[in-house]
Amino acid sequence: MPTPFQLDLTHRPRRLRRTASLRALVEETVLRPQDFIAPLFVVEGKGAPEAIGSMPGVFRLNIADLVKECRALWKLGVPAVALFPKLDARFKDEEGTAALHEDALILRAVRAVKKAVPELVVLTDIALDPYTSHGHDGVLTADGRDVANDRTVEILMKMAVLHARAGVDLVAPSDMMDGRIGAIRRALDAAGHTQTGIMAYSVKYVSAFYGPFRDAVGSASAAGTHLLGKGTYQLNPANRREALTELALDVGEGADIVMVKPAGPYLDIIRDVREATQKPVAAYQVSGEFAQLHAAAQLGWLDLARCRHESLLAIKRAGADMILTYFAKDMAKELNR
Ligand code: PBG
Repeated sequence: MPTPFQLDLTHRPRRLRRTASLRALVEETVLRPQDFIAPLFVVEGKGAPEAIGSMPGVFRLNIADLVKECRALWKLGVPAVALFPKLDARFKDEEGTAALHEDALILRAVRAVKKAVPELVVLTDIALDPYTSHGHDGVLTADGRDVANDRTVEILMKMAVLHARAGVDLVAPSDMMDGRIGAIRRALDAAGHTQTGIMAYSVKYVSAFYGPFRDAVGSASAAGTHLLGKGTYQLNPANRREALTELALDVGEGADIVMVKPAGPYLDIIRDVREATQKPVAAYQVSGEFAQLHAAAQLGWLDLARCRHESLLAIKRAGADMILTYFAKDMAKELNR
């Protein structure tokens, strides 16, 4: 009998992969229900949950159903929700004036959720896109060809104070105007809301992966297209150094948490941001990332549960401390099993 061939190896990394227990022992990244922030959509009225075609399993909810969903998420160990209003097109205008209504849908939603589940962290977007007829995140310049920076910031400051007064834990400016974090911090403090935090969408790219979200809040139908050009304010996907410029500005202006968005296609940026700041880093697995996994799963081409888990593990491994994801509830259920 010839002796079987044997390499003369000092290192055999497979030794630590031999059994499930050994693999568990050397596991580096672990997902927990408390890693997730669930984005939720809210609508007026008492109607049944409205399905969103491009986002299977995601619904626009009336306030009562939203509260129920928040209770369920809290029970599952999800510590935070991000609320987005979907307005009827007739309440939208060029200036997004409905964003500053004292009794706006989003404010009533925040109050209802905070009353029912006080410990649940509630955050809201500070940007005008759910409110503008053109679907942009701010008001337009006189020639209508761009978003006006400072005039938009002036509105967002008021919006942030209204949201703080309604009880949000964090405001999340998602507009990408220059100087908005500092301006919002000062406005909150001046109104006495020193404990309301800011989760800054610091590094938000011009992404085609936002398409399904624009169906969800109706900013696409308002504008008549998914392909709204937001290139004068959101970052160019080709740029990496620019992400660190935005990060430094937002941290300097007082951001408590910084965010990278989208997440999956931008893992290098999440890592860069993680290494460049001591602040907590959030990443937003956006609607298009969610939709593509569902679409492939529906065709039988991918296993949804495993790909969902892997996509989120990758985002956490890249350096995210928390992840906004439409999979939050499903993941929490899976992890609690
Ligand atoms: C709006 C906003 C967007 C998202 C979150 N806040 C869309 C956009 O900038 O056009 C996208 C979220 C998603 O795609 O899931 N300021």
